[in-house]
Amino acid sequence: MRRILTVAMAGVLVAGGLMAWMARADEFTTEDQERWQGEFMSVVKEGRALWTSGELGTNGVACAQCHPNAANTHPETYPKFQQQLGRVVPLRDMINWCLQHPLEGQALALDDPKMIALESYITYERRGVKLAPGKH
Ligand code: HEC
Repeated sequence: MRRILTVAMAGVLVAGGLMAWMARADEFTTEDQERWQGEFMSVVKEGRALWTSGELGTNGVACAQCHPNAANTHPETYPKFQQQLGRVVPLRDMINWCLQHPLEGQALALDDPKMIALESYITYERRGVKLAPGKH
């Protein structure tokens, strides 16, 4: 009996803690939201600069030459099976594929700030488009 009580008490404590944490996580102000949006948009802007820059690869080609305003990048369809890679991949692997092939450059590490900027830019351009993972 005592053991059951202890377990029940522990359960109540965990649930209580979780609720307190969730309540705290909900507390943010309009200023917070504006700041976070500003942070996000500054990364999108970096992505846009990389998109149109000939410096990413080695042959002076820019992503924007084939994908103006991120056209034909279809981020909403990822993860999906990509024939070039022969497996299901996230968007980042196709960003690297184009970096290595049309741009004759080096793949970026998946957590490279440039990769995050490119991904932010591409997905921002396609905001509002319905998710369609796996679609061709
Ligand atoms: C010389 C033209 C060219 C350039 C420059 C180029 N790409 Fe691509 N890209 C392609 C082609 C062609 C495909 C189609 C591959 C496929 O899906 O069969 C593609 C596909 C993609 C896809 C996947 C699209 C989809 O529908 O799934 C992404 C994402 C992408 N490119 C990102 C980039 C990025 C990022 C850069 C710059 C680093 C870049 N591309 C530069 C030609 C280009």
